[in-house]
Amino acid sequence: MLNIILFGPPGAGKGTQSEGLLNKYGLKHISTGDLLRAERKSGTTLGLEADKFISAGDLVPDSVVIGMVENFMTANHDSEGFIFDGFPRTIPQAEALDILLEKHNTKIHVVLGLEVDEDELVKRLLLRGESSGRADDKDESTIRNRFQEYENKTLPIKSYYSKLDKYVVVQGIGEIQEIFSQLCSHVDECLK
Ligand code: AP5
Repeated sequence: MLNIILFGPPGAGKGTQSEGLLNKYGLKHISTGDLLRAERKSGTTLGLEADKFISAGDLVPDSVVIGMVENFMTANHDSEGFIFDGFPRTIPQAEALDILLEKHNTKIHVVLGLEVDEDELVKRLLLRGESSGRADDKDESTIRNRFQEYENKTLPIKSYYSKLDKYVVVQGIGEIQEIFSQLCSHVDECLK
């Protein structure tokens, strides 16, 4: 199994780059943001509850997302590996992921950290908000709150994986294809 975390602030390009990586390495995509939006679209209780947090730019409670990831991994236990996009986002989520991976006799191989400055991120998200219909992309104050959540709760994960020597930095500004090549070179290192 090959397991990759695509890490970075809102708008860094995690979803965009996941697509190419999934195709190239034959992995399954776990995007907790996509899973939550699908729940909301289906009108489930979980989706409607989560929507309150998402629309405000706050993180959804750990227990909700950890449960979703566990179900997804169990349903796809025979896959070649996973790309985790937007998960883990807190230290308790990272610890829970370690336990889940251990149950599946596997581990995280690399954490690819996309780094993009905040002004560029705001521009990207406001632009996407013009057509995406995502409530959390619509106004700058909600977007800034997402960054605040990222800094307070998610950024500590960088040192969690750096201590394990699994975190690599990738510059997330520039041509999508060039960034993809950088990401692939780090993944290929793991496969050697
Ligand atoms: P989620 O859906 O995960 O969103 P996010 O991480 O906040 O950010 P995005 O998905 O918007 O950004 P991205 O890095 O994937 O960039 P993308 O490729 O889309 O989460 C949404 C919410 O759900 C959270 O706020 C939270 O409430 C909840 N949630 C989700 N997971 C959770 C968890 N684990 N725990 C708790 N709560 C959770 O690109 C963005 C834009 O930029 C696109 O328009 C794209 O075309 C463009 N773009 C990409 N690359 C480039 C480039 N190189 N140059 C120019 N533009 C680019």
